[in-house]
Amino acid sequence: MKVAKTIKSVRVAIKAARKAGRTIGLIPTMGALHRGHISLIERSGKHGDFVVVSIFVNPTQFGPKEDLAKYPRPLRKDLRICEDHGVDIVFVPDAKEMYRQEELTWVDVDKISEPLCGRFRPGHFRGVATVCVKLFNIVQPDIAYFGQKDAQQLAVIRRMVADLNFPLKIVGCPTVREADGLALSSRNRYLSLQQRKDATCIYSSLKIAREMIEAGRTNSKTIAAKIRKIITATKSLSSIDYISIVDAETLQDVSRVAGRVLIAIAARFGSTRLIDNLTVDCRTR
Ligand code: PAJ
Repeated sequence: MKVAKTIKSVRVAIKAARKAGRTIGLIPTMGALHRGHISLIERSGKHGDFVVVSIFVNPTQFGPKEDLAKYPRPLRKDLRICEDHGVDIVFVPDAKEMYRQEELTWVDVDKISEPLCGRFRPGHFRGVATVCVKLFNIVQPDIAYFGQKDAQQLAVIRRMVADLNFPLKIVGCPTVREADGLALSSRNRYLSLQQRKDATCIYSSLKIAREMIEAGRTNSKTIAAKIRKIITATKSLSSIDYISIVDAETLQDVSRVAGRVLIAIAARFGSTRLIDNLTVDCRTR
């Protein structure tokens, strides 16, 4: 496994693989790798790709009051995980390598970036879209793998790739969960025992919402109210950013559930912000 810290060295290593006719798979991450990230790496490996993982805690997607400084950076452990899972190249640039000069060029994906997390994290998706474009240009992958856990991010990237005609396939991968349903996240480590216990209400309320839809309920307000009731009953919830039922593609609110919908939640336990979602396809009911 090669560890490349510079754009130049990662390009050289990938060029050889491309010459050998390999399909290049990219898994962009911010490190602190867990089974969620590993599922993306394995998906790429199973597909037979030359597997490239990027580890970069991207400063431009963090707001001024967010956790950039305290974001975990267990690099040695991450490299071991990559090695153990057959990664070919890990690209670990520092901030100066990725942002060599003041960034004057940004990628904004309108509309899809605006609801849900976009409302609570101004500039976040601009930072994500911009760093992903940079990574796509540096690595020039044939396929890039993203988790459904960050459903809005996946939708933003899909739309950006389509709008900007990137010759690249985006593969969305299912959310990996703990045994009790909590979606794996690098931020779960911040939770106290009580918060960790209470946080399971996010997924259990999502499942109840899905059951309501499957039972024929279509009023989004009623479904969201049920989720709110379940979550607010926990001790350590500090606030709810949103509970939304939106069209799975456009991410715009739907008042009546129809077609493919995304049920999405963002809530804070203590100061830790957790997000999760489920997609329900009413067309297959
Ligand atoms: P990060 O949070 O490290 O996540 C990297 C990838 O892992 C994302 O595609 C995310 O959706 C996926 N992932 C995280 N938790 C998962 C889980 N429990 N199950 C399945 N997949 C999961 O997302 C980012 O980094 C950044 O915004 C990035 C795209 C790298 C741009 O900086």
